[in-house]
Formats: sequence, structure tokens, C-alpha cells
Amino acid sequence: MQGLFITFEGGEGAGKSTQIARLSEHLRANGIDVLVTREPGGTPGAEAARHVILSGAAESLGPAMEAILFAAARNDHVEQVIRPALKSGRTVLCDRYIDSSRVYQGVTGNLDPLLMNAIERTAINGLMPDLTIILDLPAEVGLQRANARRGTDVADRFEKETLELHTRRRDAYLAIAKAERKRCRVVDAERPVDEIAAEIAKFVDGVRVASDLRSSEIVEGIK
Ligand code: TYD
Repeated sequence: MQGLFITFEGGEGAGKSTQIARLSEHLRANGIDVLVTREPGGTPGAEAARHVILSGAAESLGPAMEAILFAAARNDHVEQVIRPALKSGRTVLCDRYIDSSRVYQGVTGNLDPLLMNAIERTAINGLMPDLTIILDLPAEVGLQRANARRGTDVADRFEKETLELHTRRRDAYLAIAKAERKRCRVVDAERPVDEIAAEIAKFVDGVRVASDLRSSEIVEGIK
């Protein structure tokens, strides 16, 4: 049976890694085999692309070429890691995926939606998430958290951008959630960690039950 593919999205400092760790604990406690991964990254080639992009080395190429680099990294990650894991029945939790490209490159990079759509299709080759958790909070709160977490390290390519851009990203995530209600769940990320974790676990358990039901119907149909 194919595993579930769950992606986490949100602006800087939204708490994705904390919540991914909490959800993986919850799922493992229920006997589920979980793979945690992230973008950009997840394979040696994609980690190399990550370094090039986040260091800012590709910034001068412009948002379209950065979008293509993210897509190349994503395609490697999808074909080498995510799709095989799902096929073998593992549940995959991925920190950022297509919506990050739609928001960071597409919306705030002012790229043509048709171009973005073509790049996305090529990168993922049909592999859409079963569920996307969007951790939502005001951009200024997220940036403050990200700054505090980073300490004296320098801000990366995207963290250093203006509050106005980060606010547009928040709005863009909310617009995606509105347009794709079946796939996306918006979670208020300004609340205590335990409360957020409980809400996410509830959403995920709902999707698990629905997918188990679908699989048992398929098995019944085959009999
Ligand atoms: P990372 O250090 O993983 O940040 P975070 O903890 O915020 O997820 O850096 C990833 C950065 O790359 C983040 O600022 C978002 C950006 N990004 C894009 O612009 N497009 C993409 O497709 C992806 C996957 C990430």
C-alpha cells in the first residue's frame, strides 16, 4: 500500500521543523514507518543545489533561473527519494515542496504562472502531496523567530529580504490554501507548540483514515 505524502509549508520561522518532528513522533508511536526530508535538499545533487541557491550565488541569474534550479533539485529528490519511499509504503514528511516555489519564486519573483506551472509539472511528474500543512503567522513574528534562532550567523538568500516581501508570501500561501481546500490545511502557528501539534495530528489522522478506507474499497473491488 502506497504511503501518504505530507508537505509542510510556511514563511520563515513558522516552526515547520518542530512540528515535523512532533508529527513523526506521533506517527511512529502509531506504528507508521516515516521518512522525514526537506527541500531544497534530500539527495547529494539537491543538497549541492541548496548550497548554490541559499548562499546567494545564483541570485544574479534572476528568479526564473533560481526557479529552474529549485525544480532540478526537486526532480532529483522526487525520483530518488520520495516516490520510492511512498511506493514501499512509507509515509513521507517533507519540509517545503511545490508551494514554496509557487510563493517564493512565482509570486514574489513575479514569474509568469504558465512558466511556473510548466516547471512544476516537469519537476514533480504527477507527485502531488496528499496533504499540505501551511503554518501561518504574521511575517514580522516569523522573521523575529528566525533571527533569534540564527544568532550571529548571517541571514540566507531569502531570510534577508524585506518584511513587505515576506508579508506577500504569507498572503500567497493563504491564497493557495483557499484555492486548494482539499489538499491544504492552514494552521495558526502563533499558538503553543503542543496545541499546534495536536491540531496537525488530527488532520493527518483524518487523511490516514480516509486513505485506509479507499484502499480497503480497492481491495474489496479486486476480490
Ligand atoms: P531553509 O534554511 O530550509 O529555511 P526554512 O527553515 O525557512 O525552511 O531554507 C530554504 C529557503 O529556500 C527558504 O527561505 C525558502 C526558500 N525556498 C524557495 O524559495 N523555493 C523553494 O522551492 C524552496 C523549496 C525553498
